[in-house]
Amino acid sequence: MNDIVLGIETSCDDTAVALVDAQGSILSSVVASQLHVHAEFGGVYPEFAARAHISAILPAVHEAFKKAQISPNDIKAIGITRGPGLIGSLLVGLNTANGLGMGWGKPVIGINHLRGHLRSADLEQKRVKYPATILLVSGGHTLLAYMKSNAEIELLGTTCDDSVGECYDKVGRMLGLGYPGGPVVDRLAKSGVTSIPFPRPVISKGLEFSFSGLKSAVARYMDANRDALHENIAASFVQAVMEVLMKKSAMALKSYPSQSFVIVGGVAASPQLREEAVKLCQTLDVELCLPPLRWSTDNAAMIALATFDYLDLSILKKPTADLHLKINDF
Ligand code: KG4
Ligand code: ZN
Repeated sequence: MNDIVLGIETSCDDTAVALVDAQGSILSSVVASQLHVHAEFGGVYPEFAARAHISAILPAVHEAFKKAQISPNDIKAIGITRGPGLIGSLLVGLNTANGLGMGWGKPVIGINHLRGHLRSADLEQKRVKYPATILLVSGGHTLLAYMKSNAEIELLGTTCDDSVGECYDKVGRMLGLGYPGGPVVDRLAKSGVTSIPFPRPVISKGLEFSFSGLKSAVARYMDANRDALHENIAASFVQAVMEVLMKKSAMALKSYPSQSFVIVGGVAASPQLREEAVKLCQTLDVELCLPPLRWSTDNAAMIALATFDYLDLSILKKPTADLHLKINDF
């Protein structure tokens, strides 16, 4: 044994703990959801999130060891998300991990949450063929990255404003649908026609994204056209999003030759996105890699897997567990 890492992820509203081995097999994964804490606010309330992590984190760690039927002696290290995320939530995780590491005599490694997402596709089984282009689309992030290997990650472009998921959620709210907006907007879009020419926010020739203009365009259109059919608004919005995501992904795949095109994050659940990605990969002759959604959305197993990169690859500079993190500081 001893090739096991304890991963802890508390960057937002879920307290997640997992025990993972060097092959990416998951011995246990425990998530204490805070949905009930934030439901009445219609979004995550940062101070309540931090407080809920305080009460949930140690029971989650205990449960993870119990489920895996191992003890802290059996682990090699602790991997903890050091950012980006809500500062209060991150601090609960970091301080807990440091305390446990000190008590158990185990190293504690601070992990960029985004490296976790980028590595998540190799959980349970190795799926990614390098070099790979990765599209991360979630409620918190929208970015394209190029990975020559798990040691060499290049950030190609991120969003200048809103993430795709956020944009879906806001449009969902405007259409009077529940939270999260993604699945319901996609479903409604299927019964509409793409009759409204919403802008395609292709802000530059580069690989950056911008979605706030599209969100405002939907709001303005709804103000000016109060009788417009909601399904047509949803269909036209989804079409605009897909066009932008596929255009930028195609640009990345053409400039950075890839064996795999990987899509992770909550928005990867979108059937429309999956359909478009299949077409794009057929055209470009690239293998599409859509890992199971439970590992695509926030979890601690991806943090544990990313920790092995630092334990195994001496070429990687060991990250410090501080919070001064640049987005591309992988
Ligand atoms: O990765 P995730 O579960 O959480 C984080 O943001 O970290 O992503 C949640 C986002 C939400 O914005 C949600 O609306 C979106 O993923 N989402 C979808 C779909 N299912 C979830 N967006 C589009 N289509 C979907 N089917
Ligand atoms: Zn995330």
